[in-house]
Amino acid sequence: MTIAIIYHSVSGHTREIAEYLADTCDGMLIEIVGLTHYNAVTRYLVGGKRALSGEKDDIDPAMIDVADFDAIVVGTPVWARHPTPAINATVDALRGCEGKEAAIYATCGAVAGDTLELLGSALEQKGVRVRGRVVFAQRELQSEEKRNELVSLLGTSCAQ
Ligand SMILES: Cc1cc2nc3c(=O)[nH]c(=O)nc-3n(C[C@H](O)[C@H](O)[C@H](O)COP(=O)(O)O)c2cc1C
Repeated sequence: MTIAIIYHSVSGHTREIAEYLADTCDGMLIEIVGLTHYNAVTRYLVGGKRALSGEKDDIDPAMIDVADFDAIVVGTPVWARHPTPAINATVDALRGCEGKEAAIYATCGAVAGDTLELLGSALEQKGVRVRGRVVFAQRELQSEEKRNELVSLLGTSCAQ
């Protein structure tokens, strides 16, 4: 059983959860790098606005083939209560995802808004079967309970 753990992360929180999952489930990490340059100010003013409008940034890798994986995980930071523009582009870039089971998660300061509903719907439109969603507020990043909740969504795909 193999899991692709696909994530975007700027300040490391979403990466931390992705790395935990990779260790716990023997999964493969696929980091998505947004190619639009934001500084600390424009990330909020421009990036946050683009997230709010559901826009997409160019990403590396430009194409993500998950045909060889049994399940996928997609993790996004919350920007303006939405998935990041890089994660919006990630959904477009997925190949071989039809019929795959997925778990999705978001990390945020405190309020995720519609982030995981939007990401889940976008994935389902590509034929992905979303098993469940977990939000990690900043104070919950180390929570064993939350981490286990995410792992349990992966069922037998997680080779613990
Ligand atoms: C542009 C921007 C917008 C954000 N908007 C929200 C928000 O709407 N709600 C929230 O709780 N946190 C918000 N945050 C905080 C991030 O979601 C949080 O720090 C997240 O864990 C960052 O993930 P990362 O470390 O993987 O990049 C925002 C951060 C940025 C940079």
